Amino acid sequence: MSNFLITGGSHGIGAALAAQAVQAGHKVVFTGRSEERIAQTEKETGATGFRADVSKPQDNQATVDFALQQLGTIDVLVNNAAYGYGAPIGEMDVDAMRAMFETNIFGLVDLTNRIVPLMKKRQQGDIVNIASTSGMKGHANGTSYAGSKWALRGISQCWQAELRPSNVRVFCVCPSEVQTGWGGTEPGTNPRKLFAEDIALSIMGALAMPARGFIPEFAVFATNPF
Ligand SMILES: NC(=O)c1ccc[n+]([C@@H]2O[C@H](COP(=O)([O-])OP(=O)(O)OC[C@H]3O[C@@H](n4cnc5c(N)ncnc54)[C@H](OP(=O)(O)O)[C@@H]3O)[C@@H](O)[C@H]2O)c1
Repeated sequence: MSNFLITGGSHGIGAALAAQAVQAGHKVVFTGRSEERIAQTEKETGATGFRADVSKPQDNQATVDFALQQLGTIDVLVNNAAYGYGAPIGEMDVDAMRAMFETNIFGLVDLTNRIVPLMKKRQQGDIVNIASTSGMKGHANGTSYAGSKWALRGISQCWQAELRPSNVRVFCVCPSEVQTGWGGTEPGTNPRKLFAEDIALSIMGALAMPARGFIPEFAVFATNPF
């Protein structure tokens, strides 16, 4: 059984993963910013929530301290918290893009930077970075969000090169559209499109591989959403 820390686990893919991990017998701490969402997800999943904004360095240290106090070790770090900002070049609000990178990239790097030394010391650990198919193919209005996910794929490859000798596995997951209702939209209910639970299942499946092997990157598409 493993100890999970999931960022942005109070909704969507992170919450589905928290639920499945707890169901499988793992211990889970998750983060989010809204107290209300945290309380709701704690009730629904049995995981333990912690209010923290991944874009704030002091929150990241508090997250690590809380997770260690609750779990003793962090075996699986899931870097999931992120949001989107879209605009075409020529009309970009570069400050909005910078703010998004603070969450999607710099905060993620800051949190992982605090946890990797612990994993290296123990010579074990799993890091799951949630990227996107937006990071595999450029698209209109994607400079900011797609740019952050392309960056995350590259960062994942760098971490793999650095951490494999310490037995730390780095997985990069690229979901296509998932009907989480993210960005304040209504969650979709189309049975032909992906749900948060589908991505959670794929992550649990990848993590189940024996520690001698890992899947560096995988994409998840709906089979026939057309
Ligand atoms: N949905 C899709 O179609 C899709 C496709 C490909 C990839 N992805 C990726 O999958 C991941 C999860 O997406 P989702 O659709 O599940 O999103 P979601 O439903 O909007 O959930 C995002 C979660 O992250 C939390 N969060 C956001 N900003 C945060 C911050 N600064 N610090 C801490 N927590 C924060 C949110 O809670 P609070 O707002 O209360 O903090 C919420 O729990 C993201 O990395 C996203 O880019 C999503």
